[in-house]
Amino acid sequence: MTRPAPATVPTPDFYHYRWIPLSTASIDGDFVKLTWGDGSSLSAYSWWLRESIVADGATDPTTREGTIDPADFDDSLSITGVQLNAAGALLVGFSDGFAGTLHPGWLHHVATGRHRPEAVIPAAAIWTAEQLAAPPTFDGAAVLAGDGDELLSFLEAMVIHGLARLSDVPARLSEPGNREIEGLVAVTDLIGVRRDTNFGPVWSVKAEISGDFENSTANTGLRLGPHADLPTREIPPGFQFLHCVANTVGGGWSRMTDGAALVAHLEAEEPDTYDALTSLDWVFFNRSRDHDHRWVGPMIDHGAPGSPLTIRAFYPVRGFPAMDPDDIPRAYRAAKRFHQLGADPRFQIGYPFRPGDLVGFDNRRMLHGRDAFDPGGGTRHLRGTYVDHDEVYSRIRVLARAHTPNSQEVGP
Ligand SMILES: [Fe+2]
Repeated sequence: MTRPAPATVPTPDFYHYRWIPLSTASIDGDFVKLTWGDGSSLSAYSWWLRESIVADGATDPTTREGTIDPADFDDSLSITGVQLNAAGALLVGFSDGFAGTLHPGWLHHVATGRHRPEAVIPAAAIWTAEQLAAPPTFDGAAVLAGDGDELLSFLEAMVIHGLARLSDVPARLSEPGNREIEGLVAVTDLIGVRRDTNFGPVWSVKAEISGDFENSTANTGLRLGPHADLPTREIPPGFQFLHCVANTVGGGWSRMTDGAALVAHLEAEEPDTYDALTSLDWVFFNRSRDHDHRWVGPMIDHGAPGSPLTIRAFYPVRGFPAMDPDDIPRAYRAAKRFHQLGADPRFQIGYPFRPGDLVGFDNRRMLHGRDAFDPGGGTRHLRGTYVDHDEVYSRIRVLARAHTPNSQEVGP
């Protein structure tokens, strides 16, 4: 039976949790064993309970952040008593004289893993060209008009498939007060903080090799093979957004390959290539008058367990083999095979950029590229920016609070 939550049990954050009464609580050494009616359970350590109670001398009631310096933890701290109150909340007493109450819904969200980074964020679904013919497309005008459900659907599709598209995003629009703002800036403002790089916070892709446009082969009419941007960084940008503001040229289609599908294929079918790509390091570098970025790593970088996949596959900045000379021939052949597969029609899709299209994609998972075009045949102007994974995942969690029925976390 769901009983009303007493307003007097704050949690160590600013969410409001559904009230899910505890069924049992018992001391088990330095832990408290907790169970709920739905079968979930949690073993909560004494020090963790002590620092998680919202009260002076534990979690600060104003900031909702912990205030106990771990150096000050009492080695002899023990739990002297536990009980459930009439509403099913947990009351704990400690040997240092401190006592407090914990919200059973907050404890339940820990017991069920809802506090984990991967909770709420949809899982990736890898795809081949047969399975995904075009980017899942959403209504950019609705997103700009404040439709949070449409924005959430766009962001979730971007995480699941590695790319998604908004249509009908104007090049510029007026904000309240008649301030003009770029469509790309207006959309990414709704998501989170943009990541600045040596390209600038927002940049153009345009066939103009002069002035500001001399910094990349992207600013030519040449074909760009499948690649991921900025492998020269310790953590390359998470998501990339490209907004087409003008396009009158023939050709220049966008190309996209799910790098996670290539990784899965290589691991299963071509283990020698997979081994070379995941274990042999290269030095990536990007030099200009004012910059000198470098990083060393494998082309398929799995990172620490739980990290997102990072593909380092931009050949214009892959500089030096960083491996035993005996390994260099197989490293080059593996790189060749990887880029062949990146453009293989089994894996790669293509679509034109229409003015108003704004495509968001995972820059560390997807391989993007474009067909060649004739710069003299018209104008092709994209505006681009980066927004890191953290920002997108944070926005999804915030939108999910308000737009997901039956969410356990219903605030703040
Ligand atoms: Fe690129």
